[in-house]
Amino acid sequence: MDERHSDSYIGSANQAFESQGHELSETSIHHILLPGKTQEIQKLIKLSHVAKDRTHSPYSQFRVGAALLCSDGTVFTGCNVENASYGLTICAERTAVVKAVSEGHRDYTAIAISSDLKNNFIVPCGACRQVLAEFGTHIEVYMTRPDLTYHKMTVGELLPLCFTPDQLTREKIAVVSGQNPEGSTVSEIPKLIKSNGLEAEELLSGEQ
Ligand code: THU
Repeated sequence: MDERHSDSYIGSANQAFESQGHELSETSIHHILLPGKTQEIQKLIKLSHVAKDRTHSPYSQFRVGAALLCSDGTVFTGCNVENASYGLTICAERTAVVKAVSEGHRDYTAIAISSDLKNNFIVPCGACRQVLAEFGTHIEVYMTRPDLTYHKMTVGELLPLCFTPDQLTREKIAVVSGQNPEGSTVSEIPKLIKSNGLEAEELLSGEQ
């Protein structure tokens, strides 16, 4: 295998990425070149570029495509879908995830993302990183350019210290709401807050 396509080579690119202001540019990754590491990944990257052609992005004119690889080999594609009410826009990555989940697929190994940026690798937005993290920080993210070159990182690397489903089941302190399992009422809230080391009055008034 060509040294340029090994993971260690990509690892050194990650260091370059971190040392150069988090900008995935030509200069920071010039040592990652065509073609993709495996045929499967090459195909995934190509599919993400095909998906980009289906974009609905009349407002930003910024076309994005995604191709999500499931552990059983199934691929779900997605594109960004914008709306006249701008805030309702859905990113390409989330389109692909929602399509996959709604078709019964939840185990993912990789996602490729594409855009028309000539000299930069398209990076997933924060919201998409969080949505991907829901399904595993191990998922490989292939950030690509139109010439099919890519930069690979895992979701965990892209979103360190992320909030994942397992955190919801960790041990919690007594709940301070009317519906907690110990049956505390609203009048008990100051007492409970105090038992957790905080003075309720100060907290509520905003004083420290
Ligand atoms: N976009 C994506 O589809 N994925 C990302 O991760 C970044 C942003 C889209 C949303 C919007 O349609 C356009 O790119 C410009 O922000």
